[in-house]
Amino acid sequence: MNSFGLSADAKARLVTRFATRRAAAPAREASAPAAPALGDQEAMADLRMVQRAGAALGIENPYFRAHAGIAGAKTVIGNAEYDNFVSYNYLGLNGDPRISDAAKAAIDRYGTSVSASRIVSGERPVHRALEEALAAAYGTEDALVLVSGHATNVTVIGHLVTRDDAVFHDGLSHNSIVQGCILSGARRVSFPHNDLGELDRLLSQVRPGVKRALVVVEGHYSMDGDVPDLPALVALVRRHRASLMVDEAHSLGVLGPNGLGIAERCGVDPADVDIWMGTLSKTLSSCGGYICASAAMIEHLKYSAPGFVYSVGMPPPVAAAALAALQAMRAEPGRVAQLQDNAAYFMAQAKAAGLDTGPSVGAAIVPIMTGSSIRAARAADWLFKHGVNVQPIIYPAVPERAARLRFFISSLHDWPQLARVALLTAEALAAAGSERVSLVDLAAKLAG
Ligand SMILES: Cc1ncc(COP(=O)(O)O)c(C=O)c1O
Repeated sequence: MNSFGLSADAKARLVTRFATRRAAAPAREASAPAAPALGDQEAMADLRMVQRAGAALGIENPYFRAHAGIAGAKTVIGNAEYDNFVSYNYLGLNGDPRISDAAKAAIDRYGTSVSASRIVSGERPVHRALEEALAAAYGTEDALVLVSGHATNVTVIGHLVTRDDAVFHDGLSHNSIVQGCILSGARRVSFPHNDLGELDRLLSQVRPGVKRALVVVEGHYSMDGDVPDLPALVALVRRHRASLMVDEAHSLGVLGPNGLGIAERCGVDPADVDIWMGTLSKTLSSCGGYICASAAMIEHLKYSAPGFVYSVGMPPPVAAAALAALQAMRAEPGRVAQLQDNAAYFMAQAKAAGLDTGPSVGAAIVPIMTGSSIRAARAADWLFKHGVNVQPIIYPAVPERAARLRFFISSLHDWPQLARVALLTAEALAAAGSERVSLVDLAAKLAG
């Protein structure tokens, strides 16, 4: 029988044709220039440089370490337990049985996926319950949750302003904000970190030539642990007939007596901010992003923001976990007070040990400035070998001289632990030496 009903003759002709084509192929490949490599080659070169420098200095790769269980005040990596300062589990709610049970119950009821975008058939009651709770926390008319915090900034900023507009963002803005600004096509203006005088000048210069202006800031900056002057910002933005968006990723559960964020900390009426954005992945121990705003704004996003309309609805266990965590946060303000006390205590201990805590306000994020990437990496490596897990933040994530160890404080840490780690950090920095060789210089030396 002939395969696929071909006659013996036809099959032979086909086999010859394929054989000729196969034989010819390598010659064509050899003569054709290779396609340029995809991706950001500069980023890859930076990575190779850091890897080479790390290997030369005998520093273990601090990235992608797998934690064996829940990362709280302590964590297990490999078979060893560490004092843990790398997780934004600010109120210790991740792993709380009430939150895990809520997620499990949602799985039992709805399964693990809603199997559609919410606008068509992915809507479940738990979505609205979470949105109503978020809107109540911010005192806004409505709220919307999306499946990723990063994607929330990208799609919302990308959607709300266009090429006729201008978007102003703080120089230390999170990547998701910058990506949203780029996507929008609006004129993008970055102003120096927390410099409202410069923002005022830039708004005066650019605002008259554009249709709309949006100013985007963060309520609590994730690298420096400092905050904007929100009352002054509100007045400035209003004076320039602009709109204001505040990213609360590291503010909810952290700032203000009840953890209600930068507005509560500063005594600002939440209605003075046009768009509150936040993530469910930090204090709320889940995953996703949210927008709290006017009913009209939420309706607009619900029916037209591409990252919402054309993306699956939030998985029910993810929404249920965030809702249970928000309820716990609101019912137990003692957790917020504990976090703030812990962060202030760690700041004081670090300063007493002679460490430079940068501009941190000591609310939950405490950088220990090291002056060079190599010092940061060496100190983090030393600390890891002494049972403390803290992330070095090095070039190119921050400028070389702004390299640091970044401590995320949680309500779960205790004071003896914080005092001990502050002293160990001072020891680690002494062990790391005071040499200020930059990563780039070291890499150049290694290459030469
Ligand atoms: C300020 C800020 N905005 C947005 C995000 C993105 O949130 P997610 O990690 O939940 O996607 C982060 C993440 O760390 C952040 O720090």
